[in-house]
Parts: sequence; structure tokens; C-alpha cells
Amino acid sequence: MQIHNLSDTPSILNTFMSELRDKTVQKDSMRFRRNIERIGEIMGYELSKSLQFNPHTIATPLGSSETVLHQKDIVLCSILRAGVPLHNGLLNYFDAAENAFISAYRQHKHNPESFEIVVEYLACPSLEGKTLILADPMLATGQSMVATYEALKPFGTPKEIHLVSVIGAQEGVDYVSKAFGADVKLWIAAIDDNLNEKGYIIPGLGDAGDLAFGNK
Ligand code: URA
Repeated sequence: MQIHNLSDTPSILNTFMSELRDKTVQKDSMRFRRNIERIGEIMGYELSKSLQFNPHTIATPLGSSETVLHQKDIVLCSILRAGVPLHNGLLNYFDAAENAFISAYRQHKHNPESFEIVVEYLACPSLEGKTLILADPMLATGQSMVATYEALKPFGTPKEIHLVSVIGAQEGVDYVSKAFGADVKLWIAAIDDNLNEKGYIIPGLGDAGDLAFGNK
């Protein structure tokens, strides 16, 4: 797997990231969602640089202009519910993408002894020969990302796969690195050192789903 850690190069992304992690700013859930969305937009722009573009000519009012386009065969898949603002950010840039949604949650919310991933809802178009962008803002153990990909396999074989996460734990990054092939690209805005015993990223930001959608 090829890892693109966007925090390696200082940019405005770091400002959005520091707001996202800041427990005072997090009290504003609209700002929290918007910051994830803004990070999704930056990730979309960065990953777009690795896509293939096709020559295209358009008519302007005064002549014609050569350009390149890539849009048509992208499927954007997000894991509910924390993936929704990240999905929106990516969709702002890949506005012609097809969309897939999956609900995958960690069993241990109900059974503290278990880390098993439960997939309950899945809506996905054909993935055959397409560019799959799989978005999950928190790459903690990495198991949701891998369980999601397993659940998507009956929908066909994508020609390329991009994983998009906001914050990962090193353990989760290592786990997905082993599970995905060498051609798969991970776009991530920060890699933190640790996971706690409940599977939360330390220092991370807390529970992204709760912060975005309530239950504070
Ligand atoms: N999911 C979250 O929302 N936060 C974490 O730290 C780990 C998984």
C-alpha cells in the first residue's frame, strides 16, 4: 500500500485538523462537520493528482479550449455515520461520482469484550473496472475499512482503490497495509501513535460520529 500522509507538508489542512481535535472548538458540531468536509475536499484534490485524465475540447463563447477530464467512473463509498461529512467533502470535488454507503460498527459498543465489525446496511453500484474511493474518517484498528472492502467484493473488481481517512492510528495503518495490495493508495491527514483499550485513537479527537451528529 502507498501511504500519502498529507500532514508531512504543512498547509491549511493543519489548521482544519487542529480545530477538529480541539475540544473547545468541537462543541460546535456544525463547525466539526464542516472541518471534516473541508479536509475531504483537500484529500479529494490531492488524490485527484494521481488519477488518469483524458483530453477534452470545449467550446468557449470565443473559440475552443483544450483541457483534461476525469470524473466518470468513480465510486465514492463511505462508512456510516461518521463518514457522511467526509463523503460530502469528496463529493464536492467528484460531483459526478456514483455513491455507495455501508453501515459498519464495532460490536464492542454493545459487548465490551468484542471488537467484531458488524455490517448491517449496504447500497453499492457495480464496481467493475471503476475507481473506488473508500472513506472512513477514523482509521483506528483498520478492521472497519477491511470489513467494508470484503463486503464490497461481490459488486466487482475496481481498477484502482483509494482509501481516505482523516486520522489513523499506526496500528490501523499497519493493518490495512497488510490487507490491501501494493497498488492501493491511502490518503490520510494524520497518523497518531496509539489506540486505547476501547479502540479509540490517542490523542485522536474522540468519537467522530458523536461529535458530528450529537450524543455528546
Ligand atoms: N472512531 C472514532 O470516532 N474515534 C476513534 O478514536 C476511533 C474510532
